Amino acid sequence: MKSSALGYRLRRLLREESATALVRIGAARGGEWSRKLVWTGESYIYRYEIADVSSLISSPRIEGVEIKFIECDADADRLAVEGYEDPRVVLRHAARRIRAGAVGCIAYVDKQFASAGWVGFCPEAKKTFDSLPYRVAFENGEACTGGSWTERRFRGKGLYAYVFGQELRYLRDCGRTTCRNSIPVGNLPSQLGQSRYGARLCGVGRMTKVLWWRRWTERVAEGDCPSLAVVRNEAG
Ligand SMILES: CC(C)(COP(=O)(O)OP(=O)(O)OC[C@H]1O[C@@H](n2cnc3c(N)ncnc32)[C@H](O)[C@@H]1OP(=O)(O)O)[C@@H](O)C(=O)NCCC(=O)NCCS
Repeated sequence: MKSSALGYRLRRLLREESATALVRIGAARGGEWSRKLVWTGESYIYRYEIADVSSLISSPRIEGVEIKFIECDADADRLAVEGYEDPRVVLRHAARRIRAGAVGCIAYVDKQFASAGWVGFCPEAKKTFDSLPYRVAFENGEACTGGSWTERRFRGKGLYAYVFGQELRYLRDCGRTTCRNSIPVGNLPSQLGQSRYGARLCGVGRMTKVLWWRRWTERVAEGDCPSLAVVRNEAG
């Protein structure tokens, strides 16, 4: 499964992008590996009271988007039989996430995988899409989200913002009251995409890794996402 999934992803990449995409991905994987060895970076930690977000979700700027929730392997199997791309094949880590209990919120365009985000109801699921050890009080009805990814050719069309809204709606339907997540300080598209849902900062964390050594520090913070202030200042 692993090598055939890799082959499928390579063929898909060459078909939909270009050979230079392989170089870009190679460089990205190299960067990932070097970050596993030595890395330091800051992330914002957000907390949401999960309100009724229906009125805040705006349609993506692309026709024919369908949202599917994948709660278990059987859901992915069924979608594959119906002709949808299998996220476990298209998306790295998807199979592991589903096995750990994470729920995938997948956006399809003409049954082609376009964008995904994940929700978790337990620490094991969270670890598969967000390794930062900020606390989520799962036992008190909190949940977490993360692991978002939009295929390059579909970026900038509002898919992430749309998928994230669907995740919040799903969590609310499941009876969850609060959601937490983290976004690297420099990731403006993610910060902007979720800002419309009332993202409130609750902390800023820094992870430092050197080989197997890890250090996580977290300070309390509150208010709007700081990036929004920057964007507003630039606009006005
Ligand atoms: C982050 C990511 C998921 C965003 O996906 P997307 O579908 O392109 O996002 P959207 O089109 O919904 O855009 C979200 C917001 O960012 C803005 N935006 C999109 N691309 C941007 C860019 N390159 N620079 C600045 N803002 C950008 C959009 O205008 C939108 O803001 P708005 O809601 O105020 O209009 C995508 O870029 C991605 O897969 N990145 C790599 C993986 C990653 O970083 N995942 C997130 C980890 S926290």
